[in-house]
Amino acid sequence: NGDPEEMEGGGATAPAAPHPAVAPLAFLLGKWRGEGEGSFPTISPFRYGEELLFSHHPSKPVISYTQRTWKAASGEPMHAESGYWRPRPDGSVEVVISQSTGLAEVQKGSFDAEKKTVTLQSELVGNASKVKQITRAFQLVDGELTYVVQMATITTSLQPHLKALLKKI
Ligand code: HEM
Repeated sequence: NGDPEEMEGGGATAPAAPHPAVAPLAFLLGKWRGEGEGSFPTISPFRYGEELLFSHHPSKPVISYTQRTWKAASGEPMHAESGYWRPRPDGSVEVVISQSTGLAEVQKGSFDAEKKTVTLQSELVGNASKVKQITRAFQLVDGELTYVVQMATITTSLQPHLKALLKKI
């Protein structure tokens, strides 16, 4: 796979200490790659490959986020999204995400720097024909990044759509 994801803030050569606001979420920073499984009551289950990049500049209290996915079997691109994570000193975090499908999300939630977890719930889901609600839960487990994304739609209550396990690369 190519690497089109070199965003602003990701190009520094010498590692610098993150901004103090970002430091509690430093466990996310860097590039991650792995595989996931998608499901929902209304669709056939599927497997996908995924790459995540969390980058930052030490002068800004924000983490830039990009994700891309591809079909596990063929490598053909699937869903992609990108956005910004804004952690706060009180342990709350707000995230904005724009998805390749046109959907826009504002997520709010909290993080635990010791347990290395972040949990998010949608405060706003915009420009979506079916999706009513999205939750995202991330956790670092033995150095690997795991997450579960759940959604509720106009026909289906909140339940898992995506689960993945990614290694730092
Ligand atoms: C289906 C939303 C992420 C792949 C769907 C459906 C919705 C949806 C609303 C249709 C469900 C129904 O008709 O009842 C979302 C949202 C996402 C997300 C809100 C992120 C928060 C992803 C990702 C992938 C993916 C990352 C691929 C890696 C699929 C596939 C289907 C599907 C293959 C079934 C086929 C299709 O309808 O196109 N998704 N999705 N989705 N999603 Fe996602």
